[in-house]
Amino acid sequence: METNKMNSSANLVTQLTEQEIQEIMDLASHYDYPQAASIEALKVVQQYRGWVSDESLKAIAKLIDMSPEELDSVATFYSLIFRSPVGNNMIMLCDGITCWMHGCDKLKASLSNKLGIDYGETTQDKQYTLIPVTCQGACDRAPVALKNMQLHTELNETSVLNLVESNSKQTNSSGETQ
Ligand code: FES
Repeated sequence: METNKMNSSANLVTQLTEQEIQEIMDLASHYDYPQAASIEALKVVQQYRGWVSDESLKAIAKLIDMSPEELDSVATFYSLIFRSPVGNNMIMLCDGITCWMHGCDKLKASLSNKLGIDYGETTQDKQYTLIPVTCQGACDRAPVALKNMQLHTELNETSVLNLVESNSKQTNSSGETQ
């Protein structure tokens, strides 16, 4: 671990809070190279700010000795890192192959029609952001979606709209809480 180099970099990072810097350095200390903590570092900042701005990304990159371009590639590859402001509620539709075979496109169309937004967009009232995600490991209950990181299973074009209208817990197509 290049502790001295990281401490030196930390002094230059003014865009991050002391708490964020400390958490990122703690995570990086578990690896031989601080770059290995890149996704975790991005998650730390997103946890506090809701998304990762260009300025935050540059500060994180400096802290873990990466170029902003390299870290941006990591952030872009990992769909759960948000590079623009998101709504108060995140709806993530699984578009993995099993959910696709079970009609996730219809769920997406239903939600898009209801909310007036496409993937990657946020409603004007800043309440909802809609994004696709990869397989959530619940293929036996496809199609599935996450709302604010809670899993909802066996959805259909009607029940998926409950994600918009309620702060529901895990439900299936019958509206049962699971
Ligand atoms: S493809 Fe959607 S849960 Fe596996």
